[in-house]
Amino acid sequence: MAHPQNSENAQSSKSSNKADGARQKNSVLEGGPQPKLFFSFLTLFPEIFQPVLGSSLLGKAKAKGLVDYRLIQIRDFATDKHRTVDDTPFGGGEGMILKVDVLHAAWQEAQRQIPREGKSLTVLLSPQGRLFDQEMAHELSSYAHLTLISGHYEGVDERFIDLCVDREVSIGNYVLTGGELPALVMADTITRLIPGVVGNERSLTEESLEKGLLKYPQYTRPREFLGRSVPDVLLGGDHEAIAAWRQGEMERRTAEKRSDLWDLYSAALKRQKEVQFGK
Ligand code: ADE
Repeated sequence: MAHPQNSENAQSSKSSNKADGARQKNSVLEGGPQPKLFFSFLTLFPEIFQPVLGSSLLGKAKAKGLVDYRLIQIRDFATDKHRTVDDTPFGGGEGMILKVDVLHAAWQEAQRQIPREGKSLTVLLSPQGRLFDQEMAHELSSYAHLTLISGHYEGVDERFIDLCVDREVSIGNYVLTGGELPALVMADTITRLIPGVVGNERSLTEESLEKGLLKYPQYTRPREFLGRSVPDVLLGGDHEAIAAWRQGEMERRTAEKRSDLWDLYSAALKRQKEVQFGK
């Protein structure tokens, strides 16, 4: 336990603790309706975000007032005339390290204008973080404010992590040039889970991974294409038979394509049966 305040479970994370004073006075959302989720993106490359956040479902979610966001350019918080954001590591070594003073000032700005109510969490995107998955997306969709920090260069000064970061998150076991794409991956995945963002809410519960299984195969017109036809069961109108076929296909496909997910699913099923039959 590096830092006693670094408890993710506490309702008041580092972000909300520090932001409370500013929250009342400077809410961006003062007066108007509060979006369900407000993202603060801290980055050296804000131009990467705009096209993605403005398009498709994310653009519509913002237009509907369900989410909102702010892009904060970390470089704006540099204090020297060269607008320096990084420096060489103490003790020697490769690469440049993002400076704690600059990051801290940018983070403080992000905490100054946030929703009036709800939980707040600060996430640093990093290949060293906990792996992002659908379960974490669900958890984070219950927050009112997420500060997503995109690191660059070789790393960030550890003191910034100790002081301000609630959770380090990785989107996969590979190294990208920076945290911008990972921050967008997270924002996209989380935004879709907010009620009202995806038109048909049932489609959310039916999709891949929601039940720990991959989705069943789907077809639309034409019934025949290059000698391949749609499975008969889907054309017969027997809803029970269709549901049973789909469940079978979900299991078959998961076992075939994703043995990692299948092992988790089978283990959970086994535990459930043991509880049910009192074993
Ligand atoms: N920054 C660089 N690589 C990353 C990854 N895999 N996940 C999150 N942030 C990153």
